[in-house]
Amino acid sequence: MPTRATVLITFEGPDGSGKTTQFTEAVRYLKTSGFKVLPIREPGGTPAGEAIRTVLLHEANMVAKTELLLFMAARAENYHTVIKNAFGEYDIIISDRSIDSSVAYQGFARGIPVEEIKWLNRFSTSGITPDVTYLMDLETPLAALRMKDDLDRMEQEGLAFQEKVRQGFLQLAREEPERFVVIDGNLPVDECSRAIREDMNRRFSEF
Ligand code: TYD
Repeated sequence: MPTRATVLITFEGPDGSGKTTQFTEAVRYLKTSGFKVLPIREPGGTPAGEAIRTVLLHEANMVAKTELLLFMAARAENYHTVIKNAFGEYDIIISDRSIDSSVAYQGFARGIPVEEIKWLNRFSTSGITPDVTYLMDLETPLAALRMKDDLDRMEQEGLAFQEKVRQGFLQLAREEPERFVVIDGNLPVDECSRAIREDMNRRFSEF
């Protein structure tokens, strides 16, 4: 496969929306299509990021600002070690969550001003933004039904919190219709995958 420039793809969505299933399928599809693909996840992806992930998802409670800064710290580590070096080396970097999760969860749901979070995102990534973001969208009560028993801190927040997260993501998608592709999580898994595949093929047809 000829390489033009490295593309950065992110997958976003509330807990239980089917995001990770679609992310995994997209990675498989892109790899079997012959692309050199680097899958990453947030928070995590680096030794420091994985340690931060454990604190964030499983340790005692913390105030919203601490939580936000820990997500940002994991992001800064990821972007400045893994992602920055992968530009030019890989065809596609594909991330399970990134900047938009902070805006949806810590901004729209926790109530930290969104503009401050967007500034911190720019700071943490040095301004690198995704080329395309696939947003898995599903009614909050249905998403809640799909969550497993072993819930992490964010998943335990309840329906009202998850609904704010969902509305936050949808607002971001309305603000940037070129970057966001909203996928209806009510569709069967295969149909969601097909919609994503078709969009990627259309977008990156010059590859
Ligand atoms: P994870 O186990 O990766 O869940 P998922 O499979 O849903 O991605 O947990 C990540 C959790 O952290 C998830 O509830 C979303 C949340 N999160 C934030 O609140 N802010 C962020 O910036 C990021 C990246 C994730």
